[in-house]
Amino acid sequence: MTEVDAALPKGDTTWFVHDRFGMFIHWGLYALPARHEWVKRREKLTDDEYRKYFDHFYPDLYDPREWALKAKEAGMKYVVLTAKHHEGFCLWDSKFTDYKATNTKWGKDLLEPYVEAFRAEGLRVGFYYSLLDWHHPEYTIDCHHPRYEDKEYVAEQNAKRDQSKYAKYMRDQVKELLTEFGQIDVLWFDFSFAHCEDGKGRDDWESEALLEVVREHAPNVIIDNRLDLPGSGDIATPEQHQPIAQILDEDGNPAVWEACQTFSGSWGYHRDEQSWKSLDMLLWMLVDGVSKGGNLLLNVGPTARGELDYRAVDRLDGMGAWMRVNGRSIYGCGPAPEAFPAPPDCRYTYNAAANRLYLHLMAWPFKAIHLENMSGKVEYAQFLHDASEVKLRERRDPVHANLNQATPEGYLTLELPTVKPSIALPTIELFLR
Ligand code: GLC
Repeated sequence: MTEVDAALPKGDTTWFVHDRFGMFIHWGLYALPARHEWVKRREKLTDDEYRKYFDHFYPDLYDPREWALKAKEAGMKYVVLTAKHHEGFCLWDSKFTDYKATNTKWGKDLLEPYVEAFRAEGLRVGFYYSLLDWHHPEYTIDCHHPRYEDKEYVAEQNAKRDQSKYAKYMRDQVKELLTEFGQIDVLWFDFSFAHCEDGKGRDDWESEALLEVVREHAPNVIIDNRLDLPGSGDIATPEQHQPIAQILDEDGNPAVWEACQTFSGSWGYHRDEQSWKSLDMLLWMLVDGVSKGGNLLLNVGPTARGELDYRAVDRLDGMGAWMRVNGRSIYGCGPAPEAFPAPPDCRYTYNAAANRLYLHLMAWPFKAIHLENMSGKVEYAQFLHDASEVKLRERRDPVHANLNQATPEGYLTLELPTVKPSIALPTIELFLR
């Protein structure tokens, strides 16, 4: 099996494991049909049929400063935008294609203003780059291609297409992305499917050569693990699910990882989708990830006018309100020491440097919560959102303290108000001895 040259530099994940929360942005021509970024594949559209979206692309309300402000206010610290998604359309003025924003009626590059706007708000900037390409004439037709079922067309096309020319095109574009926009902190390749019949993987992308281009021009950019090249990924990228526990690398050590999640199922703007997650669920996903040592990359799909979806803005505002007062339990935090198992319906996050443990309560118990192995370990406790004290009760002799009758040895009890404080996902800060 191909292994990555151990001498190649690695991505710098020190800031990444501290910052924990980023914004994913899927934006391209698929914002116009507004029914999933895979619409070209799902509806088996030809290039001609898809052409109308290129012809009508005119994002007159595009102002990435507003996106950046929303991300910042939500507590997000980095951002990753689809420079090119599977449809092949490029948001920047690439020298290597005509299929780009500058050739639409809108006529302007979209990446430079994005990079500038997010940097100005202090966020780290990343690009998503699709390995798949449903427009490029040399990209051989595979099982995910819109025209795959048209066997005659596939045979005729694949006989004359040269995938290695496409692999070269990717190297050229990736070099552009890494050299023409200042320092890029994340490069997010998507994705390999070598296991499928008529799938694609490292041989088709020429992943080793691609990786060399990346490391030559951006030695410490973080790249994901989707090149189908063992050892090449700086981060693991579970998608649309919460891992059951801390993700481990091949050697059994905790991996750096990031769950990428949508608000509603689709990545691109989807007008009619109704399965929007609640604020409570989104906060829970963020906390759950950090408690297992992971980040959350939460996706927005702006409209074809260039604005964030109002439903996304609503959730982002809610997350920002929570993060403003609870951010301390996220930034610089990771899993709690194993000796401290979280109570049912709770998660712990832990800031080792500050020696503080954060207890996040998904459900609200009656009057008390009991923390295993915490007896004698806590100096002070408070709700994080308002710094109001939470009283500690050590276990007493069960004969004299009927309150604690069934509390087992080693437990510490926190006294809770009957009514849940008015904050989504209450968090208690425990100052450890
Ligand atoms: C999947 C989807 C793609 C999306 C990506 C984000 O691979 O195919 O549309 O961009 O997930 O992780």
